[in-house]
Amino acid sequence: MADYVVPTVRALKAYSWEDSSEKIAKAYGLRPEDVVRFDMNTSPYFLAEGLVASCAKSCANAIAEYPDASYSSLAAKLSEYAGCQQDELVICAGCDEVLDVAVKTFLGSNRKLVTSEPTYPMAEICASSLGNTVVRVARKKEAGYAIDENDFVEECQNANLAYICNPNSPTGNLEPVEKIIRITKAIPCVLFVDEAYFEFAGQSVAPFVRECPNLVVGRTFSKAFGLAGGRVGYAIASRSLVEGMEKVRPPNSVSSISLALAQKALEQKSSMQRNVMALAASRKTLCLRLESLGLPVFSSQANFLLADFGSVESAANACQKLLQKGLVVRDVSKKPGVEGCLRITIRKDADNERLAVELEKILTGSNEQKSKTQRT
Ligand SMILES: Cc1ncc(COP(=O)(O)O)c(C=O)c1O
Repeated sequence: MADYVVPTVRALKAYSWEDSSEKIAKAYGLRPEDVVRFDMNTSPYFLAEGLVASCAKSCANAIAEYPDASYSSLAAKLSEYAGCQQDELVICAGCDEVLDVAVKTFLGSNRKLVTSEPTYPMAEICASSLGNTVVRVARKKEAGYAIDENDFVEECQNANLAYICNPNSPTGNLEPVEKIIRITKAIPCVLFVDEAYFEFAGQSVAPFVRECPNLVVGRTFSKAFGLAGGRVGYAIASRSLVEGMEKVRPPNSVSSISLALAQKALEQKSSMQRNVMALAASRKTLCLRLESLGLPVFSSQANFLLADFGSVESAANACQKLLQKGLVVRDVSKKPGVEGCLRITIRKDADNERLAVELEKILTGSNEQKSKTQRT
């Protein structure tokens, strides 16, 4: 890598995604529309027909101008949804930008971030790029991936920012509100609670931002609202933390069209809630189906499941064979703490069943293969 790149960035491992649907379709002779994404934790439910086009149309006349940098009309609707005041919100281009802004505001450089492992890595990536020390407190499989409260609080005593993803990705487990608040009150730095999946879990620590002046809650329209391509996220925090974040936030990173889409999505809150309920039912069905194939599945409060394939090789083999059928799952099998596991996003029942049928073939195929080898 070129010497122009700062050493802290040169040392980073690039965040990697599965290939695009077009690339996968081309590689395996499929039509792009036959590729189903079980890897991004996005929603299979879209905004009502015609809404995207009508939002684009409503912005057409003003598209030569920047959006109102305070995003005030979205903030007004969002404050109702989030149960806070408008000046307790920071709106950004996705929760990833919220994380970036929080790291710049509360951590800076050459200081210390405490996170956990396994978890969503973006806070760590932002922090490392600025030359910070990162400490990962282990989430142990035998504890259902719960955070060890004492270890976490102790590590935070000389830290400048702490990060907890709740429900956690890629494991899907949820920490109780009381535990998160106890941690917030016991540490001397800001705690960023990433609630990207909170609509699926039905609980939030957002009502505590006034009581806890060091609490920042990050959220997104990418998951339950089905707006990942729109790129809208937000933070909820006390006014003094918001004031700091507002100094760092890029003023126009959310496009006029995305602002209009997010407002429409909030107007359709009840259909989002119906979709969340449908996905919870589909999660249960898929979980039972995977368990019936002999795969241990971890309890999840989000729109995905973590399934244990027993070894890195079995997981990689299943992943590759599913890919050939256009079924893209998230391979986390080489990551510490979730070795041998694949993360599977819940989609509509028909697609979930398509996945289960293919997995059944793969798993019985490999069992037959094993018993044949044992016989010979
Ligand atoms: C836990 C978590 N936080 C944040 C994000 C990023 O969300 P956004 O699309 O709003 O940037 C994701 C995306 O997968 C996520 O899983």
